[in-house]
Amino acid sequence: MDEPQTSLPTTKVARAARFAKTGFNVGTNYIKHYAKKAVGAESTTESLHAANAAELYGTLSEMKGSVLKVAQMLAMEKNMLPTAYADQFAKAQYSTPPLSGPLVTKAFRDAFGKSPYQLFDEFEPEARQAASIGQVHFARKDGKELAVKVQYPGVADSIKSDIRLVKPIALRVMGLNEAQVRPYLEEVETRLLEETDYKLELRRGQEIAAKCQELHNLEFATYYPEFSTARILTMDWLPGQHLKEFLATNPSQEIRNQIGQALWDFYQFQFNELHQLHADPHPGNFLMRADHGGTLGVLDFGCVKDVPMDVYQLFKDLLAPETFTDENRLAALLTQGGVLRATDAPAMRALYMRTMRVSLELVGRPFRQATFDFGDPAYMAALYALGDDLMADPELRKQREPRGSEHFIYLNRTYVGLFALLTELGASIQTGIM
Ligand SMILES: Nc1ncnc2c1ncn2[C@@H]1O[C@H](COP(=O)(O)OP(=O)(O)O)[C@@H](O)[C@H]1O
Ligand SMILES: [Mg+2]
Repeated sequence: MDEPQTSLPTTKVARAARFAKTGFNVGTNYIKHYAKKAVGAESTTESLHAANAAELYGTLSEMKGSVLKVAQMLAMEKNMLPTAYADQFAKAQYSTPPLSGPLVTKAFRDAFGKSPYQLFDEFEPEARQAASIGQVHFARKDGKELAVKVQYPGVADSIKSDIRLVKPIALRVMGLNEAQVRPYLEEVETRLLEETDYKLELRRGQEIAAKCQELHNLEFATYYPEFSTARILTMDWLPGQHLKEFLATNPSQEIRNQIGQALWDFYQFQFNELHQLHADPHPGNFLMRADHGGTLGVLDFGCVKDVPMDVYQLFKDLLAPETFTDENRLAALLTQGGVLRATDAPAMRALYMRTMRVSLELVGRPFRQATFDFGDPAYMAALYALGDDLMADPELRKQREPRGSEHFIYLNRTYVGLFALLTELGASIQTGIM
């Protein structure tokens, strides 16, 4: 880990200053790019993206908080962004400087009127894990091992102004128009704001865990409301390893399949039965165990997506096998989902139909088979390649306005994340009707 931070650039002015700097540098990179182009020199779009991404990343990781969470989210949407951005943003998931002991103690005093050493039998002053808007400490109480997530001070208060600051830069860098992307940004902002409310996370974590009790090979932490607030969350310390460490132990194919199946069933059950999803399936949020016969610990209910009934039905219909072979059915569903419009010119309509048919065929593939082998990396590679193709498509690039329901943002993110995890795990899954 890096040196602990003893202060955060939380004042509006300090944050604005950092952003102004980034905005300026991003602008400068573009000017250099176009200047070079004007004189015919070589300056690839790729190198421009890399320079901007590095610049943005440096600023974002110093700012922490909500902005870093945006970066994390973008990192997950690898298929939606030029590769250079994704690579830079991916760093955000692992390298954030931790808060010092005194700041942690202050957070406890503010919340409980007591220090963590008074509250618990034992409390480690150094965080075991740094995360996006918090860090996780190890503690003991009455013989129990606990995980205590402490939110970075000031995050919740500054999230709105962060978004206001980052928005124009993001819009400019990605060449989007504010009014047209408003519903999508609002959807993301809502999730980000919810994520700062650990009371909500506690409630959702308890509820989803209770409803998933019948599922096999899953483990959830018990939460302790008496040691939790909106900014501090206390739960059992779950044993297990993150995906990379787990894979380094060379787990058997059988164990990998079993854990992969648990992961798949967890998501299918949430989607089909609960209409509510743990919408952050990145490797940091799962702990795997071979020693326990192959189980999956699920963490972090900070980002949960409630799926409205009509959106659920639409998503199911879109992925149904008959949809992508039936032009009329596909067109009707796409119109319902806001992708196609009555006013579209025939060429535009054909473009969206073609794009969506290819996408649905690929994304829906695991659902259309009784079993699916994510161990074949070709599938995920094809998904990323499709994302890159769509990003590079000259006709689609002209469409400056995104289309489709904003509810699909987190649904897509969840399934792309889930598929990526299963691919890395190399699991073969029974994907058919559960
Ligand atoms: N109950 C727990 N048991 C063990 N480790 C945990 C637990 N909760 C969190 N962690 C560790 O802390 C990291 C960050 O926690 P998480 O809840 O995912 O935070 P964030 O919401 O900021 O992403 C996790 O990736 C995991 O390594
Ligand atoms: Mg997490």
